[in-house]
Amino acid sequence: DKGEYRHFMLKEIHEQPRVIQATMEGRLTDSRVLEQSLGTEAGSLLAGIRHVQIIACGTSYHAGMVARYWIEELAGIPCSVEVASEYRYRHHVVQPDTLFLTISQSGETADTLAALRQAKEAGFRAALAVCNVPGSSLVRESDLVIMTQAGPEIGVASTKAFTTQLTALLIFTLALARHNGLDSEKEADIVRALREVPRQVDQVLSLDGRIESLSRAFMDKSHSLFLGRGAMFPVALEGALKLKEISYIHAEAYPAGELKHGPLALVDSEMPVVTVAPNNALMEKLKSNLEEVRARGGELFVFADGQSGLHEEDHVHVMSIPEVHPITAPIVYTVPLQLLSYHVAVLKGTDVDQPRNLAKSVTVE
Ligand code: M6R
Repeated sequence: DKGEYRHFMLKEIHEQPRVIQATMEGRLTDSRVLEQSLGTEAGSLLAGIRHVQIIACGTSYHAGMVARYWIEELAGIPCSVEVASEYRYRHHVVQPDTLFLTISQSGETADTLAALRQAKEAGFRAALAVCNVPGSSLVRESDLVIMTQAGPEIGVASTKAFTTQLTALLIFTLALARHNGLDSEKEADIVRALREVPRQVDQVLSLDGRIESLSRAFMDKSHSLFLGRGAMFPVALEGALKLKEISYIHAEAYPAGELKHGPLALVDSEMPVVTVAPNNALMEKLKSNLEEVRARGGELFVFADGQSGLHEEDHVHVMSIPEVHPITAPIVYTVPLQLLSYHVAVLKGTDVDQPRNLAKSVTVE
C-alpha cells in the first residue's frame, strides 16, 4: 500500500529515518557497537580477519564501495570490492584470513549467490552476508548474517535498502575495527554520529520542495555528470544510477579528480553537473574541479553543507545539507540524490516504480 504517497519509491525514500533507526536497534549502546548482536559467533569470526573481499551487484555494489573506505580507514584492513558477475568468471587469489562479504537486498541475485558458492570452495575464512530478506538463499548459505531492517522494498529503484545497507556495514566495520585497535573514543564518536543520522535524513527530506524545483533543469537534458571524491564517489555513482534507471537520462559518475582526464571534454551548457560535497578534507580540491566545470559553461548542482563556503551564483545552484560527520556523510548525502531523480522521473512521466527493462530481483544471469 502506497498510503499517502504517489509512488512506492517516494514512500520508501520517506521511510528511511525509521528503517535506518530500526537497523541500529539493539546493535548499539550510546557509545559502542554490541558485537554479540551481530551473532554469537561474531567475535570469533571477526578476530584474526586480515582482508575483506566484498561482492555485490548494482546498488548493493555501491554500498560495498562505501564500506571499503570505512574498513580501510577505521579497521586498517585491506578491502577489495568487485561486482559479482566479474568476480565469479575470473581467476582470483584468495589471501589468508579473508572474510568474504556479500551485500544483497533480495538475497537471490544469481551472480552474487554464485560467487558465494564459489567462495565456499576457495578457502575463505568465513562468509558474511548483509541482506534484507530473511530466509533468502544468501542468508541460508552464509556463516554470519547482518539483516538490514528496511522492510519490503517494492520500487525497483533501490532507496531504503541502500541506506540501511550502509548503516549495517558501518556497524560491522566498527565491530571489525575494534579487533584491530580502534580506540573506544573514536568508536564512541562514530556511534554518536550514526545515532544522529535518522534525524539528519529527516532534515534532508524537508528539502523536497526545493529539490523538486531544481529537478526542472534536468527535464529536457539527455546527459548528466555526477561528481564526488573519496567515499562520496560511490554516492555519486548511486545518484547517477538512480537518475538513469528511472528518468532514462544518461548519467555518468566520476571521481572529481578524473575530470581533466577526459570527461571535461563533454561539459557545456547542455550538461548538468551534480556534485556531492560535504565539507571534508577534500573540499578545496573539489572547489577547483567545480571551477573547471563552471569555466566551460556547465550548470552546477551542488549538495554541500553551510560550512563549505560555496554559494549560489550564476549557473551554480547550492543545496544546503545539514552538517554531518564525515564518516556518516555518504548515508545522508544519498537522500537528496534519490529525491532529485524521483522528481525528474515524475516530470518526465516515466513509470517510476517499474522502470522499463528492469526487474526487482535479478535471479537469472
Ligand atoms: O537484491 P540485490 O541487492 O542483490 O540486487 C542487486 C541489484 O540488482 C540492485 O541493487 C539494483 O541495482 C537496484 N535495484 C537498482 O536500483
